[in-house]
Amino acid sequence: MEFIKYEVDGAVGTITISREKALNALNSQVLDELSETLDNVDLETVRCLILTGAGEKSFVAGADIGEMSTLTKAEGEAFGKKGNDVFRKLETFPIPVIAAVNGFALGGGCEISMSCDIRICSDNAIFGQPEVGLGITPGFGGTQRLARLVSPGMAKQLIYTARNLKADEAYRIGLVNAVYPQEELLGAAQKMAAGIAMNAPIAVRNCKKAINDGLQVDMDQAIVIEEKLFGDCFETEDQKAGMGNFLEKDKEKKLKVVPFQNK
Ligand code: CAA
Repeated sequence: MEFIKYEVDGAVGTITISREKALNALNSQVLDELSETLDNVDLETVRCLILTGAGEKSFVAGADIGEMSTLTKAEGEAFGKKGNDVFRKLETFPIPVIAAVNGFALGGGCEISMSCDIRICSDNAIFGQPEVGLGITPGFGGTQRLARLVSPGMAKQLIYTARNLKADEAYRIGLVNAVYPQEELLGAAQKMAAGIAMNAPIAVRNCKKAINDGLQVDMDQAIVIEEKLFGDCFETEDQKAGMGNFLEKDKEKKLKVVPFQNK
């Protein structure tokens, strides 16, 4: 792979978008490599992913403007679909994905971070959807996910004005969960990922699915989704070991990682 680095440390995988000369902008090759990387994550051992960008300046500075500049309407739509397909793969990936936003997260960069389960960022991070200034709409899910993550009114304001947000404002509107000094960001992401990976993996996966799927339907349907995924945890090794450890009052054992059981 030319533009994606993938490293595994224990149960945590880190994907680094590594096209530093273009501030990690997303061209077709980056999107294809990211998709292939996700397809190859070993879900038997990896329990949480971190997504970040190479260097200290940029997470992802958007979709590649050079590549987009000559597209026809049909090619533009196809490019949008290419990005959307990869981002949806990330969003529905069976295990949690933490975006460690280490600088510019503009356009497609803000959008890819919003496809992750959790966003944390460095104090130099800049978020924004500058597309209308380029004569296009946000095209990798920004019109949909920003409105769902913050509020429709705030999303509309940010998208129509194309105004960038600094890290503290992104935190204030709930776009990111926490802001860290640049040098502490990856460590914080790794600590959070390792904490997630310590928990029962089937339960964590089912929580992700319950939250994601439940948000797409009304509350009556949503609680049925929850019931099914709750029920699905029972009789698994995770549930037996997790509850057994508690009932045995064995604090040492309680902290142990319960075994992964393939469904
Ligand atoms: N696409 C392609 N190349 C990009 C890029 C992008 N989105 N963003 C940065 N680059 C390239 C620059 O062209 C430059 O390359 P060269 O050295 O070959 O000239 C290199 O990265 C460094 O960039 P700058 O010299 O511009 O760095 P800077 O520090 O002066 O500015 C910046 C940084 C403010 C992020 C500026 O690069 C910028 O505004 N980039 C574009 C951001 C943007 O508009 N993103 C949205 C793209 S549209 C989109 O994403 C659509 C969608 O929803 C799918």
